[in-house]
Formats: sequence, C-alpha cells, structure tokens
Amino acid sequence: MENGAAPTAQPVIVAIDGPSGTGKSSTSKAVAAQLGLSYLDTGAQYRAITWWMVTNGIDLTDPTAIAAVAGKPEIVSGTDPLAPTITVDGYDVAGPIRTQEVTSKVSAVSAVPEVRTRITELQRSIAAGAEGGIVVEGRDIGTTVLPDADLKIFLTASPEARAARRSGEVKGSDVAATREALIQRDAADSSRKTSPLAKAGDAVEVDTTELTLAQVIECVVTLVEEKRAGK
Ligand code: DC
Repeated sequence: MENGAAPTAQPVIVAIDGPSGTGKSSTSKAVAAQLGLSYLDTGAQYRAITWWMVTNGIDLTDPTAIAAVAGKPEIVSGTDPLAPTITVDGYDVAGPIRTQEVTSKVSAVSAVPEVRTRITELQRSIAAGAEGGIVVEGRDIGTTVLPDADLKIFLTASPEARAARRSGEVKGSDVAATREALIQRDAADSSRKTSPLAKAGDAVEVDTTELTLAQVIECVVTLVEEKRAGK
C-alpha cells in the first residue's frame, strides 16, 4: 500500500452497496484513502465489459451472444483510491466507460449470469490479494461477492437527491431526464434474476439524502474504526 496504511491495523474488508447517486464512489474512495485501504469500483468493471461488447459489435439484445464472449476481454483494475484505473486488453477505458451509450447498456450486460460469474471471480481475487484490506463498492458485494465482509454498508437517498447529484456531475444534463434514467436503471438492476441490487441482512443502512459527502464519509470511517476496535 502506498496510501498511508496504519502498520498495526488489521486488514479489513468493507462492502459498500447501493443504487446510483447515493455517493457510493466518492465515499468509498475517501474512506479507503483515509484508512489506508485499497479500493475497488465494481461498477467500472461492468462498464468495462459493456464497453468491450459495444466496441466489438456484440448484439446486446441477445443474452446468448453476450454469454458466449463474456470470458474474452481482459479487465484489469488498479486499486489505489487516490488514482483508480481500469483497462481492457491493455487499453485505458476510464473515460469511454462513462459515456451515455455505455451507461444505457450496462444493465443488460450485467444481468447475464456468465458475465456476473466472470466479474465476481475477478472481484474476489482482487479482494483476497489486497493485503492491508479493501473497500469494495457495488450492488451485490455484501450479498453475493463478499458475504463474509467485515463490514457491510448500504447507502440510500431519495430519487430526487440522487438525480440532482448525478445531473450535477454531467454538464448540461436535465434533472428530470436523469431521474427517469436512474429509476429505470435501478429497477433493472434490482429485478434481475442473478445477484440483484439488494441490501444484505447484516448491512448498516445509511440514508444520505440530508447528509453532506463529508458527513457520509465520517459516518463510514467511524463504523470501520468501531469494527476494527471490536465494538
Ligand atoms: O456504479 P455504476 O453506476 O458505475 O454501475 C454501473 C452498472 O453496473 C449498474 O447499473 C449495475 C452494474 N453493477 C452490477 O450489476 N453489480 C455491481 N456490483 C456493480 C455494478
């Protein structure tokens, strides 16, 4: 670890799940950086495989076609919370995976069981290799990927707050349209058969609607520290 890990701290695995616009990424990165942990953005991995499928002209209306090539792209995630990276077959896709085209198609690709199996294996091996501990953010981390995580957090916020945050990130976007797109994507992610977006029974739910980012970060850091102290 190059980001200031406390040398005596026990490795800790933190799962942070929740829908889009709840502050998952900003919170997860900041908590990891503050506590000297690695960081993994699993949404970026689903976006990366989606980008590869779009680029290679795979028919995304056909789950069988998606499943047939799910093992092909090589996806590598860099886990420094201060400078996370994502490549596909050696190509830096950090920018291309955030386009509207990829965002609108990622739910269809990530619903395919063969895609989930492949990406879940990758996520587990990254978490197992993170010596000082890791914060993993996604939709099914506490329920499926790392059910034995030391601490599970489920972030929520009202649809209005989530849309306002997301449209603030995308220049010139319309809040009402962003809200509709978010609701549709969450509905698709929550209703798919294989490991849907869901709160684990033992997750701590944090409603971020009325909280600033700094308050959410402080709340999660405190929860991790309490866990480490055995409280
Ligand atoms: O967090 P994000 O918006 O970058 O995630 C993009 C998509 O990836 C999201 O709509 C659903 C999917 N995803 C998933 O199915 N499982 C995860 N653990 C993370 C993301």
